[in-house]
Amino acid sequence: MTEGKGTAGPSGLEAARWWARMMRDPMDAYGALFRRYGDAVRLPRDRRRSLFLLSRPEHAEHVLVAKQDNYVKAFTYRPLRVFLGDGLLTSEGETWRRHRRLVQPVFAQRHLAAFAPGMAGVAARAVARWPDGVTLDAAAHMRRVTLDIVGRVLFGSDLAAESDATGRALADLQRSAVIGLGATFLGDAGLRRAFRLVPGAQRAGAQLDGMVLRVIEERRAAGPGGEPDLLDLLMRDGDPPLSDAELRDEVLTLLLAGHETTAAALTWTLILLSRYPAARDRLEAEVDDVLGGRDPAAGALDAGALEAGDLDVADLDVADLDVADLDRLPWTRAVLSESMRLCPPAWTIERDAVADDDVAGAEVTAGSTVAISPYLLHRNPDLWPDPEGFRPERFLGEQDRPRHAYLPFGGGRRICVGAGFAMMEAVLVLALISRSVRLDLAPGVAVPSRAEVTLRPARPVPMRVSRR
Ligand code: HEM
Repeated sequence: MTEGKGTAGPSGLEAARWWARMMRDPMDAYGALFRRYGDAVRLPRDRRRSLFLLSRPEHAEHVLVAKQDNYVKAFTYRPLRVFLGDGLLTSEGETWRRHRRLVQPVFAQRHLAAFAPGMAGVAARAVARWPDGVTLDAAAHMRRVTLDIVGRVLFGSDLAAESDATGRALADLQRSAVIGLGATFLGDAGLRRAFRLVPGAQRAGAQLDGMVLRVIEERRAAGPGGEPDLLDLLMRDGDPPLSDAELRDEVLTLLLAGHETTAAALTWTLILLSRYPAARDRLEAEVDDVLGGRDPAAGALDAGALEAGDLDVADLDVADLDVADLDRLPWTRAVLSESMRLCPPAWTIERDAVADDDVAGAEVTAGSTVAISPYLLHRNPDLWPDPEGFRPERFLGEQDRPRHAYLPFGGGRRICVGAGFAMMEAVLVLALISRSVRLDLAPGVAVPSRAEVTLRPARPVPMRVSRR
């Protein structure tokens, strides 16, 4: 096959310039390549291999679903694998299948309802601590809430106190993973050695390993309790059982994949709502109508309990929150969907081709990388009128866009295992925030994004709390 025949894109020195731009700000470079060359772009890497940016639904359907057997996680995941090992996100083949069989049932639709009270309790407790008039860092608070939720709901562990250190470790990890992209030729062992020389990578690894070991050791010491949770299943139900190293890798993967993306989605949503007051008014009206406008803190807060961190869900008036309510919050859900269209936390999904392939006209040679970028797909003007506008109504009622035009959770067999969990959690957290407070971005503050492994705000996000 002739490499990349028929696909537009730069070559020679021009290609080298694009690679340099890619290393500085990959999402910006993806956007610029799209605007310059269209929705199928080829950027040569070496004599035989290229990076293809493919941004039509038929590309996504082909690579992630129809021909998924021909595609493995791209070389770009290799630096991440040094940290996450053989967890679901980064493993392949039989190891991946075994882990997925073990984890997936916990996230089945019929089990999700059981997680709602735990999620609601964490969110309501967090919101109750936000005094009127204070300015807080929304990004850090959303990370705290989502880490606390996965910790408690999936692993029976209280991780809230670790969220700042984990946030710093994750920022270090993501930065190191991007630096590592320039050294993937070293192979896994070489990359691991190279990361020992990067202080941020060392710190991140130590912090995250410490957190995971604590979660596992606490459970080993306590022994299994009532209803088995995800941690119990991981510790005893593998076929064959997971080794200690595999257990560590999977717990770390689920803790990280299970909180950082949802935190980013919620943070972007709060920022967008602060910029689009009509959408926020409608959200507050819906939440008031469905949940009642009660302030969960009213009359229920006992300062001692707050300090001790042992407030009960019932104290906070969320016990009346029924999972069925979530289906009665279509605007809340649409706001989140639209936010993940504009700011998809997983902004690029990348695969390496095993054998030569023709992807809807793009001739991809074996070893080449294909990027199906939700960021580009979600802003393709052929699919989305007014692509830069925030219009949650796109997600109400009948939607006649192609199935793979919207991919915040990926597609095919590697689709996000926690998609249903994340959506339920995000709707719940956003509804509970909106019921009690309004968050406004401090005037004049710009929120630049950082696109590394995930798309998140590059800096703290100062938002002012007004109690409703
Ligand atoms: C808004 C929140 C979330 C977003 C946008 C998101 C997005 C994604 C995407 C796009 C993938 C596919 C990556 C690929 O194909 O290369 C993925 C995979 C994954 N996600 Fe999520 N995710 C979210 C929340 C969660 C949660 C809450 C969990 C767990 C509690 C989770 C666990 C995972 C795991 C384990 C994988 C790997 C699945 C596999 O390869 O079998 N994610 N996620």
